[in-house]
Amino acid sequence: MANESPTIQVLQASIDPDDTSDFRVLVDNKFVKYIVIDPGVYALDDMCFGPSLISLLPPLPSGVWNKARVSQHLDTGEPYFSEFSRVQLPGITKIWHSNQIDHLALREPRKLRSNVYEVTHPDFESPVIAKFARFEWEVPQLEVETTAYSWIEGHQIGPEFLGHLVEEGRVIGFLIARITNFHHATIEDFPLCQSALSRLHHVGIKHGDVNKHNLLIHDEKATLIDFDLASRPASENQLKAELHQLQNELLDTSGRGGRVVESSPP
Ligand SMILES: Nc1ncnc2c1ncn2[C@@H]1O[C@H](COP(=O)(O)OP(=O)(O)O)[C@@H](O)[C@H]1O
Ligand SMILES: [Mg+2]
Repeated sequence: MANESPTIQVLQASIDPDDTSDFRVLVDNKFVKYIVIDPGVYALDDMCFGPSLISLLPPLPSGVWNKARVSQHLDTGEPYFSEFSRVQLPGITKIWHSNQIDHLALREPRKLRSNVYEVTHPDFESPVIAKFARFEWEVPQLEVETTAYSWIEGHQIGPEFLGHLVEEGRVIGFLIARITNFHHATIEDFPLCQSALSRLHHVGIKHGDVNKHNLLIHDEKATLIDFDLASRPASENQLKAELHQLQNELLDTSGRGGRVVESSPP
């Protein structure tokens, strides 16, 4: 008789010590489930380390579900699945590229930011970048960024868009070409950054989050990334103000837009 206990892997987590925490988990290497854990059910350390959390989870509910909640039982104090159901999760609706890539085909993930990974995929010779909505509340920003990539397609402004990323039938993000041997912009790169931003403005788009970590300098040019606050149309004044602000952004030393300390595995 085969072992019936499922394999569970925590893919991403959004942990709040004082509120509910959210987990995106993969069951039997195939099914993605979204699990909310009530505050106080588990110690923070256990939630921050995927294998610990998995060893403490109550047995997964049987049946068809993709969203569930773990609460503490009022009588026994034990954690249990207080809710579980099959829900239609929101997805990105702006599907403009012909390529759709299943998230299960991504390999060797290397986390760059909470929702940005360097990954490999059999269709691509070298690693690529995957950016996606870990949780449903991130879908709107990925929708904006996906749309912005359609606007800049062919304009030599951002990395090449390689396709939409799909999870169980819905689009959760995208793959873009990985820029290699880059550095984040400094004030010395001002002319290159100015010309990249001007190209974006030339097609009527305001970036909305210009900072040195969103300007990758390589091969004697600047590539803009991170379009989740992009907007079009933008007024002449808005574009002028954004260009005017560029120099200050390159001089900024606050670390804004850079690496953040995260509380999420793996
Ligand atoms: N196409 C890419 N090639 C290489 N590195 C990238 C690429 N896209 C993103 N990155 C790296 O990941 C970081 C975060 O990506 P970004 O899209 O700016 O996410 P966030 O919205 O979290 O700021 C970037 O600052 C950069 O270091
Ligand atoms: Mg960024």
